[in-house]
Amino acid sequence: MLLYDDVVSEYRDFATYAAGDSPCFEEWALGVSTDEEMLAWLGTLPPLKRQANLVFAAARWHGAPAPAPYAALRRVLLEQEPEVRASVMSRATQTNEVGRLASLTPVLGLLDGPLALIEVGASAGLCLHPDRYDYAWPPVGGLRGSGGPVLTAAATGPLPVPARHPEVAWRGGVDLNPLDVADADAMRWLENLVWPEQDERRERLRAAVEVARLDPPDLRRGDLFDHLPALLDRAATHGTPVVFHSAVIAYLEEPDRRRFHELMTGLVAGGRCRWISNEGRHVLPSVTGDADVPPGRFVTALDGTPVAHSHGHGHAIHWL
Ligand SMILES: C[S@@+](CC[C@H](N)C(=O)[O-])C[C@H]1O[C@@H](n2cnc3c(N)ncnc32)[C@H](O)[C@@H]1O
Repeated sequence: MLLYDDVVSEYRDFATYAAGDSPCFEEWALGVSTDEEMLAWLGTLPPLKRQANLVFAAARWHGAPAPAPYAALRRVLLEQEPEVRASVMSRATQTNEVGRLASLTPVLGLLDGPLALIEVGASAGLCLHPDRYDYAWPPVGGLRGSGGPVLTAAATGPLPVPARHPEVAWRGGVDLNPLDVADADAMRWLENLVWPEQDERRERLRAAVEVARLDPPDLRRGDLFDHLPALLDRAATHGTPVVFHSAVIAYLEEPDRRRFHELMTGLVAGGRCRWISNEGRHVLPSVTGDADVPPGRFVTALDGTPVAHSHGHGHAIHWL
């Protein structure tokens, strides 16, 4: 095995993943994967910090223009190495995608309110305001009247279009590093994580930050296992507790994924809460089962039973 084999394949995989959505990041990732000097530099970072999303975001943070040819990335990585390294070490990829509400809101519509929402792995908590958005699920239907931005997802299958917005009595959550929507620097970093060509996502993010600033959720700092019991107690005084998460459980080690599944199924069986999960297809195997989930789709589930296959950023939903 060559010295940087793992990094080479990680960056090649990332190039495949970015292809179509970001020609710039595809070119950058392929550029890194054949650049001995860059690979050696990545080798000096802790493994978890070598990820392309984080390194590219840090380079852009320090002035790498994007979209731009690979040479622009290389120049910043070489000429501003200490600054880029410091950002890579101090920041994390915590992309908060409010578009995922287009996958979550039809499931919330199946629950009796008022609801007390608890998001584990909330990042800045942008997904805690399902009642502040309008929705379009073409060609099936939509939900209007909130006065907020419109979130759109192409829908297939018998999607249960909610008749009204969820009544949210309380919203709170936990994150290892909660981002404060009032913190301009943290919000600029979130924006910086959106891929260069994705102007629509950037616009949606800015709008979502404004929505959240009007009613910031109660976000706690720490591990979800440590904070969930107290959050449940707090939420239960306001309405039906609903624990939800999207794109979070992949961050847990295998034993903790199983532990989380057991914890949630126990809480649901005991009537303590409802549970909505929206995770990659291999992330919670006990939920996904043997289901034939299309590549790149998340499995959206209620109380551990899959109800939909959803686009990872919420652009499409197939109700099962
Ligand atoms: C990719 S972001 C997703 C944010 C949000 N759920 C969304 O869908 O937009 C994953 C978040 O999970 C958080 N996270 C990962 N492991 C965690 C843990 N053990 N406890 C609490 N938060 C965690 C990370 O800090 C990060 O903010």
